[in-house]
Amino acid sequence: MTKTVLLSLIAGFVVMGCNNIATTTDSRNIEDSVYLRKGDSIATLVQGVLLKNVANATQQHGIKGAVTFCNEKALYLTDSAGGEYSVQRLSDNNRNPGNGIKSASDSAAWRHLKAILKDSTVLQKHFVREVDNDIFYYKAITIAMPACLNCHGSKEKDILPETLLAINEKYPLDKATGYGMGDFRGMWKIKMND
Ligand code: HEC
Repeated sequence: MTKTVLLSLIAGFVVMGCNNIATTTDSRNIEDSVYLRKGDSIATLVQGVLLKNVANATQQHGIKGAVTFCNEKALYLTDSAGGEYSVQRLSDNNRNPGNGIKSASDSAAWRHLKAILKDSTVLQKHFVREVDNDIFYYKAITIAMPACLNCHGSKEKDILPETLLAINEKYPLDKATGYGMGDFRGMWKIKMND
């Protein structure tokens, strides 16, 4: 890595204004930058696998069929695509009851992501945080494409009645509707150490 790249990475952290950055040493910042890049590449990879599978399922079985597919396979795919890493997608308005935000550290991470999403000076909407000696990577998931609205948009305008039926049947406690383009939908949480 060239010195300039390294310096710009460190500068990136300063801009991020992450709570834990100010008090840490340069070597820790460099270590964090490695986790950031690794975490980002895992999140991108898993996201790609999920999107590809949802697109295939939609093509073969329609949107309603894709809901059933996600119900059966989303967690498995997230897990297997993440390989040795433990990968989760959490949300305050979760669909799968297992994807809720439960711990104080996850709540804090959620609030931090919400704040940096609104801050136009922060370009990277992700960060690394140490919790009880474990290193976690967190990244915001936004409603970045109109297709997300088929299953997470307005019940009246975006979600077909048959899709809504399938969602209600599989997820009686669903909270994950009513989103619009660009909204903060969830966060990646990836455990970076063993
Ligand atoms: C075909 C319907 C469908 C589409 C399209 C869809 N989702 Fe989902 N989404 C689901 C289902 C079903 C779940 C619950 C999966 C499970 O049981 O693990 C889910 C779960 C999630 C979660 C995990 C948190 C939670 O609520 O359980 C996130 C984050 C998420 N979706 C984001 C998105 C984004 C962003 C898009 C667009 C790129 C998208 N989804 C497109 C159906 C869909």
